[in-house]
Amino acid sequence: MRKKIVAGNWKMNKTLQEGVALATELKNILAVEKPNCEVIIGTPFIHLATLSELLKDSVIAVSAENCANKESGAYTGEVSAAMVKSTGAEYVILGHSERREYYNETPEILKEKVDLALANGLKVIFCIGESLAEREANKQEAVCKAELEGSVFHLSAEQWKNIVIAYEPIWAIGTGKTATAEQAEEIHAYIRKCVADVYGAQAADDTSILYGGSCKASNAPELFGKPDIDGGLIGGASLKAPDFKGIIDAWK
Ligand code: PGA
Repeated sequence: MRKKIVAGNWKMNKTLQEGVALATELKNILAVEKPNCEVIIGTPFIHLATLSELLKDSVIAVSAENCANKESGAYTGEVSAAMVKSTGAEYVILGHSERREYYNETPEILKEKVDLALANGLKVIFCIGESLAEREANKQEAVCKAELEGSVFHLSAEQWKNIVIAYEPIWAIGTGKTATAEQAEEIHAYIRKCVADVYGAQAADDTSILYGGSCKASNAPELFGKPDIDGGLIGGASLKAPDFKGIIDAWK
């Protein structure tokens, strides 16, 4: 059976000290009230080693928000998948629309990143999703399929077991405008069908597909109540422990 997941994406927020404080608060809360799902926090590179150590005996897994598309060498300022893995992090978020848009990450670059992440033993949370213009032109299915084909559908069935998909409509990210549970379910079911076409029905059934985009404690129960929505990738609401815990509780 596929995993239920609530994953935070801190983006470019929190100094090291603030991140340690938030992770400690979450760890303490979840030690008392065990979550009914896997909990992951995606953080900037600077937090990874400290938080992996801090959270090693907790229920919380740590994820990077990016890694380089090169193995190693003269790439000033970049952080490789091997380096991320060496911090103790288990996951890496790749393909986020902010990386695609502001840092020109193409499907080809993302494919290289996915391959290196998997080769170095990381699990990948791979983000896909359409813009407002694409949604208005009813192109969301074509966009999601093309993003999958461009960067992850070349993987072997064995590699696919380490992929989590996050559907994040760009028009819902940080805007307060959430996709309705019906809109989200419709495309999640379509994404699962695309996975089934490539990897078979069983693999598709075992794939966790998360929703992201203004997900919060008030709308998470309805979203997570849909058969093809296996949890959330949470930006803004992952920056305060009570808000994030409220979303984790949607699985109760
Ligand atoms: P948001 O971000 O929850 O702040 O909309 C989600 C994301 O970008 O992963």
